[in-house]
Amino acid sequence: MSKKTITVGFAGLKGGCGKSTLAISFASYLAYVLDLKVVAVDADDYQKSLFYQRDRDIKALADPSQIKLQKKFVRQEKEIFEVHNSGSVQAPKLIQDLRNTEIYDVIIVDTGGKIDQAASLILYAEIDFIIIPFEAEAKSLDANSKFLALLKETVLRKANSRLQEVFIFWNKMRPNEKKEIFVQAYQALYQAGYKIFDNLMEYKKSYQEEEVSQSTILPLQGSTAQSNMAKLMVEITNTLNIKANKQKSVA
Ligand SMILES: Nc1ncnc2c1ncn2[C@@H]1O[C@H](COP(=O)(O)OP(=O)(O)OP(=O)(O)O)[C@@H](O)[C@H]1O
Ligand SMILES: [Mg+2]
Repeated sequence: MSKKTITVGFAGLKGGCGKSTLAISFASYLAYVLDLKVVAVDADDYQKSLFYQRDRDIKALADPSQIKLQKKFVRQEKEIFEVHNSGSVQAPKLIQDLRNTEIYDVIIVDTGGKIDQAASLILYAEIDFIIIPFEAEAKSLDANSKFLALLKETVLRKANSRLQEVFIFWNKMRPNEKKEIFVQAYQALYQAGYKIFDNLMEYKKSYQEEEVSQSTILPLQGSTAQSNMAKLMVEITNTLNIKANKQKSVA
């Protein structure tokens, strides 16, 4: 059966701002909560966070000390989504090939903070929607504002580019901290017409824990399943008009 595949990428030139964290959790949410056919492409040339996470997850499934996790995995009865380890130069062709199979609902692309500009523009042009994490911190705002301008000038809604929309979400928010810098930046981005998700991702230690959030084989666990990250993922899904696979969810 042929499908219309959408490609969602996580990008931004500021390192460590949360691209891979959300890419991993979002891919798992789509695959294991919404029962969609997902494939993930790690197009980061250096960190490979998504690819290494899958590697750790597969090892954990064979580790006798991880019985709890293995039981959860077996009980959910879900097919594990594919992860491709790719460089930024190879990724555009890989994404095209995956799309042309017409078997996937969503292709998730995790990209690197350090990326060659020419290669990056070809990669971003293969993605339908790009999501950029922002932190209320001067260096991050500077790097990602330049990145937004670059996308707007060169790829967004240009000929030969699939990129339809760019979205921002706020990450690592601490209550009452850096309020002024956040309000100023928010207003500037909003006035410039950028789309900003309503759900802010709070700074939360548990987002760093593999058992609750960083998993390519299970959806968010424990209190994290009710966290702002979970709400943000629902908002992204609704905004991009991604629908759950009803056939499988009802069964
Ligand atoms: N909201 C958050 N609260 C606490 N820690 C977070 C949060 N978001 C991300 N982190 C942590 O910050 C670190 C960097 O996150 P992540 O790897 O997702 O960033 P990245 O943008 O993919 O970085 P890179 O550019 O190096 O690929 C990780 O240790 C992650 O667990
Ligand atoms: Mg990363």
